[in-house]
Amino acid sequence: MQHYIEQQLKRLDWNIAPQQLYQPIGYALESGGKRIRPQLVLMGCELFGGTRDAALPAALAIEVFHNFTLLHDDIMDNADMRRGRPTVHRKWNDNTAILSGDAMMIKAYELLEQLSEKQLAQILPLFTKTALQVCEGQQFDVNLELCEEATMDEYFEMIRLKTAVLLAAALKMGALVAGANESDAQLLYDFGIDIGIAFQLRDDYLDTFGNADTFGKRIGGDIVCGKKTFLLITALNNADAAQRQMLKQTMADKQLNEAEKIAIVTKFYQQFGADKACENAIGERYQQALNHLERITGHKNDKKPLAELAAKLMGRNL
Ligand code: IPE
Ligand code: IPE
Ligand code: MG
Ligand code: MG
Ligand code: MG
Repeated sequence: MQHYIEQQLKRLDWNIAPQQLYQPIGYALESGGKRIRPQLVLMGCELFGGTRDAALPAALAIEVFHNFTLLHDDIMDNADMRRGRPTVHRKWNDNTAILSGDAMMIKAYELLEQLSEKQLAQILPLFTKTALQVCEGQQFDVNLELCEEATMDEYFEMIRLKTAVLLAAALKMGALVAGANESDAQLLYDFGIDIGIAFQLRDDYLDTFGNADTFGKRIGGDIVCGKKTFLLITALNNADAAQRQMLKQTMADKQLNEAEKIAIVTKFYQQFGADKACENAIGERYQQALNHLERITGHKNDKKPLAELAAKLMGRNL
């Protein structure tokens, strides 16, 4: 399936004029990535007896859209590295990442035009709603970054919007292409929400405890940005008043050198069991996700590929 997705993505031609607009798009799309979302579209479709080819426009659209969000996200997060390479706004500049990103979002809609009218009637509203929710999630992410302290509920709502809804919509779009009934499509969506939340929890975990070579992004970026992650909120919740004050001061300290800040905060996270709590939370979400999957009844093919992909994602290092 992975091979099929790569092959089909390669067929999109970005070697066109003006190259200042399209070349960065080719660069972003050729740079690897796990291709989770298109896999979810295809698997969602196959679960209900649809073919890969039928789901392809939706799969490609969602991967191009996802990569668009990354171009803009890397400006917002001031990130230098992605998938082991310089981010688009670093390799070129902010204006390039903005406009090439815009073109990618529009291209995603163009790809959807290949669906039948009947499919479009269901899929277009879902895609549009989801895209807006991702923007809302990204805004909440910024809002939390700027505020002094965030609650766990605020955090989970933020990651539901910025990350989980896109994984969930990918699955549901696949199901709709295959003609699944509304209740099964919704159960698959709910499965995707829990997988998506676990996926972002894992992303936050790896941002501090991952390996830069495999993860492909800078380790400690979230700490430097002052992101309100599961790790930070848990450590603050578990610390006593004095230690909480110290952790908050360290996070807010603008004089402190970045490497030092990352080292101190990482120690705090470990001291207050935030790493373990994060791993547990991922396991719980995974179990909840499987419960939704089990309740699906109208499937034509085995649920195993989806359960296996979910399991793989929970333990991912990249
Ligand atoms: C990165 O998504 C952004 C998040 C929602 C965490 P992925 O981890 O799926 O990125 P790629 O496409 O595989 O590089
Ligand atoms: C990204 O979240 C979510 C979206 C791009 C919508 P992050 O900011 O955590 O993603 P990475 O870590 O940069 O990939
Ligand atoms: Mg971000
Ligand atoms: Mg980011
Ligand atoms: Mg991240």
